Amino acid sequence: MQTIHTIAELRSVLNAERRNGKRIGFVPTMGNLHEGHLQLIDQAKANSDVVVSSIFVNPLQFGQGEDLDNYPRTLVEDQEKLQSRGCNFLFAPSDAEVYPHGREAQTQVEVPVISDLYCGSSRPGHFRGVATVVTKLFGMVQPDVAIFGEKDFQQLMVIERMTEDLSLPVEIQGSPIARNEKGLALSSRNGYLSDEERETATNLYASLKAAAEKLQAGDKDFSGIEEEAQNKLEAVGFERDYYKVCRRYDLQPAGPEDKELVILAAARLGPARLIDNIQINL
Ligand code: PAF
Repeated sequence: MQTIHTIAELRSVLNAERRNGKRIGFVPTMGNLHEGHLQLIDQAKANSDVVVSSIFVNPLQFGQGEDLDNYPRTLVEDQEKLQSRGCNFLFAPSDAEVYPHGREAQTQVEVPVISDLYCGSSRPGHFRGVATVVTKLFGMVQPDVAIFGEKDFQQLMVIERMTEDLSLPVEIQGSPIARNEKGLALSSRNGYLSDEERETATNLYASLKAAAEKLQAGDKDFSGIEEEAQNKLEAVGFERDYYKVCRRYDLQPAGPEDKELVILAAARLGPARLIDNIQINL
């Protein structure tokens, strides 16, 4: 695997691949890679000829007081993991390479409505930062297909909408959530948890499964289900953020007629803000 730090070099190696008729698969990340990321690489490999991953801790998507400075940066370990899964190129640009005119002067990409819900309301500006950097990375890599984890379900929807609205010639694929043996969704932020908190954290997915069973059994009292789940999570030590039964295609609150649903949940546990979700077809 070759690691590249500049856009000019990236373009030059990928243009050569494209001239040889190769299909480019792309997995953007912020590094500190775990098995969930590596499964995205596997999916990219299965859907393309040349796999590019990026590692860039994007300052634009972190709010005031969030964990930008402490976000784990583990380039050497990440390179080994990517290499072991057959990734061909790692793009690891500096802040100045991505934002040469500074962050304040950067043109930004705003995906309206969906960006203001849930994580967007808890983290104002977050999805603007994500949409902006992903648009830029798409311009740099020019992938045929890009893979994003379904754990960040709202992010995946924002990126799908952005790609469609801006007519970007990239196929967006979601990849199923990778979980540990106890059901906890793999996340770089799990590293902030103590052993005890990591055990407690498994309640989040257990709660989503219990809520999904109620929906499957025909319960339409969505707000009752949401409230009960949040109360139970609070009882074991979570601080509530949001917990919402949504229709899948636009993430608006679900109505009784909706059949394709997703429950989106976020809650704080000690030092970490955890998110998870479950999809339900009625
Ligand atoms: O999901 C992430 O790791 C980031 O939000 C992404 C998509 C790499 C953009 O910085």
